[in-house]
Amino acid sequence: MKLFIDTANLEDIAWGLKAGFIRGITTNPSLLAKEPKGNYLAHLGKIVDLMKEHVAPSKREGFSLSVEVFSDEPVEMVRQAEEFKTALKWKDLAVKVHIDHNGKENLAVIHELAKRNIAVNATACLTVYQALSAAAAGAKYVSLFWGRIRDGGTDAKFISERSRYFEEKKVRLNDFDPAVAVKETRTFLDENYPTTEIIAGSIRAPLDVKDAGLSGAHIVTVQPKTLRAMFGHFKTDEVVDQFFNDFKTWMS
Ligand code: E4P
Repeated sequence: MKLFIDTANLEDIAWGLKAGFIRGITTNPSLLAKEPKGNYLAHLGKIVDLMKEHVAPSKREGFSLSVEVFSDEPVEMVRQAEEFKTALKWKDLAVKVHIDHNGKENLAVIHELAKRNIAVNATACLTVYQALSAAAAGAKYVSLFWGRIRDGGTDAKFISERSRYFEEKKVRLNDFDPAVAVKETRTFLDENYPTTEIIAGSIRAPLDVKDAGLSGAHIVTVQPKTLRAMFGHFKTDEVVDQFFNDFKTWMS
């Protein structure tokens, strides 16, 4: 299981890159919108500059950067993808394309980008079907949104949609268990599209990270706050204090 950092914040990205434990960066329009207003390509360019500064050329192979389109119009989505590719010039750039939106799927866009040799990260996948169809259309990554899959089973505002999905036999209860969604997707991918990798996103807590990895996610992308919360343990603090104190006593 590889760890990616899920942010567009330059300080957080620099922290993750310097620490050397992340193998990629995922951004999305909401994450970019948290940063100071400005030219989005210039901001993304700064992320690439940080990667060039901190990732040694020998470690760049496979070091992934995901950038998302922000349109629902197929021609414009392809144009934005080409623009990212031309402007950013990062070999392992993946363009995030939302799998569907308001009843319209984007498989033809994913397929077109794959034909143009632009790696696609099919994003906002909440079901096995979305992830599988994206892989079949040529996506290199399928992003399953762990936290949002779970929320889908409880969100009060979607009571009627949920009931309809149950009635239509589109889902059963355990389809709102993200571990099941990741495990089932991994089974189908391994059998049919073994080069497509699952990115588990929408991670809310440290426990989600290992649960996603153990369920079969190839990659887990984690926001900096949660990444930082994964580290540290009161017994680590205790034992390191003990080492220092014992040694100090012996030295004095
Ligand atoms: C992943 O690629 C997404 O950027 C992200 O994890 C979205 O999930 P969230 O909005 O629920 O945090």
